[in-house]
Amino acid sequence: MPKDTLTIIDNRTGKNYEIPIEKGAVRAFDLRQVKVSPDDFGLLSYDPGYTNTAWCKSQITYIDGERGILEYRGYPIEQLAEKSTFLEVAYLLWTGELPTREELEMWTHGIRYHTMIHESIKKFLDGFRHDAHPMGILVSTVAALATFYPEAKAINDPEIRRIQFYRLIAKMPTLAAFAYRHSIGMPFVYPDNKLGYPENFLNMMFHDREPQGFLDPESHHSPVLARALDVLFILHADHEQNCSTVSMRTVGSAHTDPYTSVSAACAALYGPLHGGANEAVLRMLRQIGSVERIPEFIDSVKRGERLLNGFGHRVYKSYDPRAKIIKYWADRVFEVTGRSPLIDIALALEKIALEDEYFVNRKLYPNVDFYSGIIYEAMGFPTDTFPVLFAIPRTPGWLTQWRENLEDAEQKISRPRQIYVGAPRRDYVPIDERKRGSEGGNHI
Ligand code: CMC
Repeated sequence: MPKDTLTIIDNRTGKNYEIPIEKGAVRAFDLRQVKVSPDDFGLLSYDPGYTNTAWCKSQITYIDGERGILEYRGYPIEQLAEKSTFLEVAYLLWTGELPTREELEMWTHGIRYHTMIHESIKKFLDGFRHDAHPMGILVSTVAALATFYPEAKAINDPEIRRIQFYRLIAKMPTLAAFAYRHSIGMPFVYPDNKLGYPENFLNMMFHDREPQGFLDPESHHSPVLARALDVLFILHADHEQNCSTVSMRTVGSAHTDPYTSVSAACAALYGPLHGGANEAVLRMLRQIGSVERIPEFIDSVKRGERLLNGFGHRVYKSYDPRAKIIKYWADRVFEVTGRSPLIDIALALEKIALEDEYFVNRKLYPNVDFYSGIIYEAMGFPTDTFPVLFAIPRTPGWLTQWRENLEDAEQKISRPRQIYVGAPRRDYVPIDERKRGSEGGNHI
């Protein structure tokens, strides 16, 4: 009979160990019994970047990276993008089930009436330079919210957690829009709670902007643009254990309040390898400038001089299912806004990359960020607001993952081990006796 165990032979000692396999994984802690002597610390697993470590059990999001499958609570992303709304998906993530009509109404009402931010936050925003990056402003203002809602520290109280969920989902668009309005020196537009979630955000961003073509405020309420934004929000709502979610769980594992934890998650998302990639894609496409220059650009990627932004993923080794849906919505958005010249460069770039053996061998396919920036730009969002447009919809995912971590009896404060490879123990040298050779000081 096959057994769900793994037998390890330690060739240093000749000893055998049998450790259980559960759901395709062994417990790293089971390796600690593997010792060369009783005072040996025991074997550690070494996994920089967590490339082969499952660090939690989760019921929220399922990804099959080889087959390009993404599901929230068991529902395929394609069905949710076609039939659901962002607020319904937020409910699904948080509660585990789709709401009834009545539940959705109560839920939507709860979120809608928390969109306002304290007036003092406006003064705080005024302190930023006019050209401050909106993501820098968002990271700071979300953390600042913790000082307005100190009760949020009661992280074990389900009712308090639910209210902070409402507040964060509701206030992220307000903070994001205020950050943008500050950066262009325009007065803030207050939330209008009669509007739906995406419409309200578009209104706070663009309400009184000079009418010009599709930037006309009327067309911002175009159902196609609002629906496209809602679909993009659905696609970004969760993505299991990515860098920002791991940050959220890690900070939350110290029992930090949800606002400060979301701020840490935003900080992780800001990086160009993660949520900052959509911004990097747009800058890259503009830099390439024309289809004719693509081969030269691809060659520089293959020489290792730069990345093809918006390509590659730690988990997806086939086409990112979110990118397919975004591509479909890009065409619908362009019917309203006019076709972006960047889409032709992106399509040609994708075609060449998907045929080139460098990308084929490494299983590098377009990810969610490859096309999202082009839609956002067509809708009138400035490039540096793109990471913010990722942070808003990722908030329900972060909060659900944060709560799951807190409720998981197996979880502890996040605290990995290290393998120390620094200087051996040595004695302190008085400053006048120190000589600098070739060693040391290399970080100055
Ligand atoms: N362009 C060129 N080469 C790449 C790229 C890319 N975008 N991505 C990976 N590679 C190469 C990499 O150089 C390596 O080659 P080699 O084996 O010769 O050293 C190989 O592919 C494997 O890459 P890796 O860096 O080991 O893969 P990873 O899982 O550590 O990194 C990634 C994943 C997303 C950070 C990486 O693919 C990347 O930097 N992509 C560009 C940034 C980007 O689009 N990020 C958004 C990710 S999706 C949204 C999100 O969830 O944040």
